[in-house]
Amino acid sequence: MAEAVTTLNPTPRARVQAMKEYHPPLGSRDALRLDFNENTLACSPKVREALASISAGSLTRYPERGPVEAIVAAHLGVAAEQLALTNGVDEAIHVLFETFLEADDELLLPVPTYTMYEIYASATDARVVAIQASDDLQFPFERLLAAITARTKIIAIANPNSPSGAVVSRAQLLEIASRAPHAVVLVDEAYYHFYGETVMDQVGAVPNLVVARTFSKAYGLAGLRLGLLAGPIELMRWIRCVLSPYSVNSLALACLPPALEDTAYLDWYVGEVLAARTEFEAALDAAGVRRWPSQANFILVEIGAQHAEFVRLMREAGVLVRDRSSDPGCNGRVRITIGTREQMKQAIAALNGAVAALKIGIGKP
Ligand SMILES: Cc1ncc(COP(=O)(O)O)c(C=O)c1O
Repeated sequence: MAEAVTTLNPTPRARVQAMKEYHPPLGSRDALRLDFNENTLACSPKVREALASISAGSLTRYPERGPVEAIVAAHLGVAAEQLALTNGVDEAIHVLFETFLEADDELLLPVPTYTMYEIYASATDARVVAIQASDDLQFPFERLLAAITARTKIIAIANPNSPSGAVVSRAQLLEIASRAPHAVVLVDEAYYHFYGETVMDQVGAVPNLVVARTFSKAYGLAGLRLGLLAGPIELMRWIRCVLSPYSVNSLALACLPPALEDTAYLDWYVGEVLAARTEFEAALDAAGVRRWPSQANFILVEIGAQHAEFVRLMREAGVLVRDRSSDPGCNGRVRITIGTREQMKQAIAALNGAVAALKIGIGKP
């Protein structure tokens, strides 16, 4: 005889019941977008051409990622079997965590950092061990090493980190990997192009190192959702078991080779952002607003108790910035993406207006 039905509604796993929906503030963004660390202008015109040449007939086929993975792997100097394209780095993180994290495993997470690590980890049965940076927001290297245990399964490191813009050296990353041979060390190089240092050349040589890159930032393709994971063949084999074969769609695949080829456009955009970052740093210093040194296309600033009002005034002046007050150790801090020099003139005017209206920063060195 069939067992009696005792519950009326299907219930998710206990860990999922404890989760909250995450809704990034994406509404009403018709302004200068300095809130999501995106490219603030456009992708390469070569990508536009590739998009325009896609036929209706070609959309009837399932996307085939293999040939494009081979092109991207050659571009990065890794073997095709060492690389998997993903639907943004977010999918890469999700799949990596699903592949490796079991009940009672530990994910070591230096915080504050990118929000999605914690969210995807909370959907697994693993435990997040957060390692809080001190007030300077520098990478907590010694404390991270001390937190490694036999249960550590993944160590997730954004380099450069968000929201701070702080970096960790190659030597330190390799030391972490060698001190935790039983754990996957994920180095998320989402902002690599604004920094220039990488561990991509160590892929395969270091048996537990996995590197992530995105096309959402410098390349300006956030809307297409394109990221990648690169790691040793032995680990990538497991990751591919969990990854959907179709999660990178054919429009994104068609756009990747021209995006990679147009190095002149990428170099121009990165150069523009780096010049604008220097100018914006000078404007922050002149306004007496504390800032953290950044190697990425954004700067974290200290606004203090009036952070919400600051964000509102900036929006009123047509500039969107991101309040990071709810990040661990970041109360009163706001992250401002760097765009082109021309765009940052508007941001500087808005900043000076908000600082004057709120009487913040004045009198500080
Ligand atoms: C460190 C870091 N990794 C990954 C991402 C997301 O990348 P993607 O758009 O490829 O999912 C972000 C976006 O802000 C980020 O800051």
